[in-house]
Amino acid sequence: MDRKALIDDPQYGNKAEAFEAFDDIPTNPGLDNTIGAIISRRYGRRDVLRGTLGVAATTALFGSAAMVAPGAQAKTSGRYDFTELVSGNDETHHIADGYDAQILVRWGDPIFADAPEFDPQNQTVESQLGQFGYNNDYVGYLELEPGRGLLCVNHEYTNEEVMFPGLGRQDRAGFEGMTAELIDIEMAAHGGTVVEIAQGTDGTWALVRDSKYNRRITPLDTAMSISGPAAGHDRMKTGEDPTGTTVFGTMNNCAGGMTPWGTYLMAEENFHGYFWTDNRDEEGNVVMDSNNPQHASMKRYGTPGAWYAWGKYHDRFNIDKEPNEQNRFGWIVEVDPLDPDSIPVKHTALGRFRHEGCETSLSADGRVVVYSGDDNRFDYVYKFVSAGKVGEDRSANKQLLSEGTLYVARFGEDGDVEWMPLIHGYGPLTEDNGFASQADVMIDTRLAADALGATPMDRPEDVQPRGDGTVYAMLTNNTRRTEPNAANPRAENAFGHIIEIKEEGGDHAATRGTWSILVTCGDPAVSEVGAQWNPETSEHGWFASPDNCAIDADGRLWISTDQGGNWPLTGKSDGLYALETEGAARGTSKLFFRCPVGGELCGPYFDASGETLFLAVQHPATDGVLAFPGFERNSTFEDPATRWPDFQDGIPPRPSVLVVTKQGGGKIAV
Ligand code: FEO
Ligand code: CA
Ligand code: CA
Repeated sequence: MDRKALIDDPQYGNKAEAFEAFDDIPTNPGLDNTIGAIISRRYGRRDVLRGTLGVAATTALFGSAAMVAPGAQAKTSGRYDFTELVSGNDETHHIADGYDAQILVRWGDPIFADAPEFDPQNQTVESQLGQFGYNNDYVGYLELEPGRGLLCVNHEYTNEEVMFPGLGRQDRAGFEGMTAELIDIEMAAHGGTVVEIAQGTDGTWALVRDSKYNRRITPLDTAMSISGPAAGHDRMKTGEDPTGTTVFGTMNNCAGGMTPWGTYLMAEENFHGYFWTDNRDEEGNVVMDSNNPQHASMKRYGTPGAWYAWGKYHDRFNIDKEPNEQNRFGWIVEVDPLDPDSIPVKHTALGRFRHEGCETSLSADGRVVVYSGDDNRFDYVYKFVSAGKVGEDRSANKQLLSEGTLYVARFGEDGDVEWMPLIHGYGPLTEDNGFASQADVMIDTRLAADALGATPMDRPEDVQPRGDGTVYAMLTNNTRRTEPNAANPRAENAFGHIIEIKEEGGDHAATRGTWSILVTCGDPAVSEVGAQWNPETSEHGWFASPDNCAIDADGRLWISTDQGGNWPLTGKSDGLYALETEGAARGTSKLFFRCPVGGELCGPYFDASGETLFLAVQHPATDGVLAFPGFERNSTFEDPATRWPDFQDGIPPRPSVLVVTKQGGGKIAV
């Protein structure tokens, strides 16, 4: 199956779905990759009806249980005190009663005093470089003082069909409408933003446009240095950078993390999609050159993906012209938000793969531990443990991610987990097997993890440690799985599951631990789904496709979802859920926030007080809108499924960050 066939298929109504479907082609060769039955064959009829016929028809088919008044599902047991929302999908967002969800910053909002106001009909590279970027994903917050701090936001990707007038889906049109100017605007809309925010006396939050801290980070114009074992290696050298130690920018920054010393980590996820080749067959499909000396590596990483046409205008993204630029992406980037002139650092000691996130904790002896998932079907869960310890010296702490040990997880059938080190010379990681140095092990982390026999998982997304040695791993879905194993117990896993790891001795640096499944996701009322929730979970509280997550100030777990174009299988928008992890309530979930149609919920991030929650709504109006009742067509700039959050004629949907507070003040869900 190739991407061109996928995106020409009407069932893939938008780019994100085609991306997901393309990502559905596993690149781990040690597995049986037979395409499973289409998931809708098993679950489709009832659930597609639920999603497309609307409430009246749903009620007629399934009875009045689907029609529950807001608030009727309130739960008083457990640790989260709020009245659950009713699930569904419509043009706008919804928050639990008693809370405010304020739009804080939108794509195109100027973040500098002299930056131009948003003008979507006449966007330019210069204006975009001064404005908030597109598709906000990770959100971090560094408090400077109570009510004032720095918001750190990743901008994962762009949707040109709802971003630019008159273009439509360019990947379906051979990118013919994409000019050099539009490509550069896309690049300027990727990357990250650091912006100061402050709370007014009335409790509302606003950008501080003239703050000295504000900065945009982009793949277009932000110079970065490269640290760690792969820095300066021959495979990191390019025509523009013969030293192999500096690179322009970062892209497809999905989730991320904040370090204990107050820096912002950006995870480079689907970097392969930005690399181009002119080597095509008659139908325009990418042809891989098996004589390329990096062929095995490129095949394992899926490069070049050719999702974007940047390589038509920037030679470094064309692998025919620059074979090594690809090796300079797929890393974790560290940014110091307190120094807007600082040069971000790509840390090669943390490995190269499709990093979903990079959340940190401390080991028992004070080293920093960074957890990360590789978001591909049948890929792995990793953690990095620094060699040095976190101390009082912030500049010394900023060196900690340059040296340490990367581990990959093997999940045993009997509930044990083993963290296997990716060290040159260890086991099969030798020159005879293609690993001549630690640089090779890091550049080809996936191949090294294959050689060690890591456990192929159902698309690892966020991997979130809690300070007590507990870790939560989001496995979002894997419809290609034909052979279940204990840690991935469902074939054709369309709805995902969550694994809880307990590190040995409660120490995040431990090389062993135990694991258990917290929940298997999907509708517990449909037996074929095989979902497992605490029975206290209401019909509004269960979810599918866990993606990002957060731990709040009280150690409680919150999950945000990304169902992509599969939301009609559940009839629910993406949202934020409170998920019990302790005691008799363990496995009970409640719905707190709902996205507008076509959007995915990212963030979430709680401030240290637990009174402020940041949420990011990504790509509103795009995913699965062919199935949105009453709309049932693909969104364009001129004709989107929703104009959230502005709802003004001529203004397209805008990815935005919201700030959630309790009316009257106080901790959220307490
Ligand atoms: Fe960008 Fe894995 O979600
Ligand atoms: Ca994600
Ligand atoms: Ca996602």
